[in-house]
Amino acid sequence: MFDLTRRLEFSAAHRLWCESLSPEENRQLYGPCASLHGHNYVLDVTVRGPVDPVTGMVMDLNRIALVLDEVLFRVVDHKNLETDVPWLSGRVTTAENVVAAMWDQLRPRLGGGLHRLRLYESAQNFVDYHGPDAR
Ligand code: NI
Repeated sequence: MFDLTRRLEFSAAHRLWCESLSPEENRQLYGPCASLHGHNYVLDVTVRGPVDPVTGMVMDLNRIALVLDEVLFRVVDHKNLETDVPWLSGRVTTAENVVAAMWDQLRPRLGGGLHRLRLYESAQNFVDYHGPDAR
């Protein structure tokens, strides 16, 4: 088995804000993250599988790159995740919620090979996600 990873970098704004809480509760809970701010996000997309004996590849990295550009980069880069991205509407834009929503976007386009998404909000903070249908 091989794990093959393609990295996507994008910049986006967000704040952590839960609509069912009061403004005061949001500021207490999320602190400075309740104010609009930005991140240079890094998303590592890992597919798992055997190497195809004919092509010598697990999956075509160029195809993965095209899918990432179309499905994610064009939608989230230089956007406000809270207000500009339809599939994040109504979710608190924590790294956990963002990465899970990204899995749902990518899974139909990358097929059964998708193994893990790792989303870095910063060099210090990242989250790993294996969807329920992960290989
Ligand atoms: Ni943040």
